[in-house]
Amino acid sequence: MRIGLLGTGNVARALANGWRAAGHDVLLGSRRPAERTDLGLPVAGLSETAAHAQVLVNATPGAASVDLLRSIGAPALAGTLLIDVGVGLSDDYSELSHPNSSLSEQIQEVFPLTPVVKTLCTMDSTAMIAPGSLDGPSTVFLSGDDAEAKRTTGRLLTDLGWPPSSQLDIGGITTARGQEHFALLFMGIAGGLNAHTFNIKVVTLPPGQEVPSP
Ligand SMILES: NC(=O)c1ccc[n+]([C@@H]2O[C@H](COP(=O)([O-])OP(=O)(O)OC[C@H]3O[C@@H](n4cnc5c(N)ncnc54)[C@H](OP(=O)(O)O)[C@@H]3O)[C@@H](O)[C@H]2O)c1
Repeated sequence: MRIGLLGTGNVARALANGWRAAGHDVLLGSRRPAERTDLGLPVAGLSETAAHAQVLVNATPGAASVDLLRSIGAPALAGTLLIDVGVGLSDDYSELSHPNSSLSEQIQEVFPLTPVVKTLCTMDSTAMIAPGSLDGPSTVFLSGDDAEAKRTTGRLLTDLGWPPSSQLDIGGITTARGQEHFALLFMGIAGGLNAHTFNIKVVTLPPGQEVPSP
């Protein structure tokens, strides 16, 4: 697929490399493409990237993402799947920009013709593209209102190394706030481990087993 990634930072570059290795056509979208010629990846302006893409990925700072998308314009984004990895955090990572909501919900509200799927934001960029390097399978979450958009996102996650058994659809776009707000716990775990490359796994009872009622 033609995947456009908005941003040229850690997440955009990691995902672009991961999807390129899987055979996709990737293009990074920058505010200043002429200054981003040393990334070893193709880079264009934001609108050019959106026009090229069958799937767009938001990998920009969450507090700036809506204005950035507005600068591209709703007509240019209509009908294009937007995979949102952004999280709005203060500079010291201690506060959320969308405490009673989420960036993804805001994007979906402002761009109703653009199906938004939130995923991958509960882990570091290193883990996003190398789930197999962790010590056992872990979980990646999907939130969004459009079933077809989530199916496409699931296939793209599989291409990064996330088998369907690791993908957990947690519901509509309002569930994105759970993924985004996990950022605070992520920072705590990273502090406790003194490392960023980790992930969580949702574990359940074995099939057929029930917890006895008290
Ligand atoms: N780093 C992670 O492991 C991780 C994990 C989970 C979620 N996230 C989320 O994913 C998003 C991207 O993270 P990142 O680590 O890749 O960030 P980053 O390294 O700071 O890169 C962000 C990119 O966004 C572009 N951008 C557009 N508007 C901007 C603005 N107003 N200020 C600064 N940059 C702007 C910049 O590219 P140009 O200058 O070329 O336009 C920049 O390279 C963030 O929302 C972050 O919270 C990150």
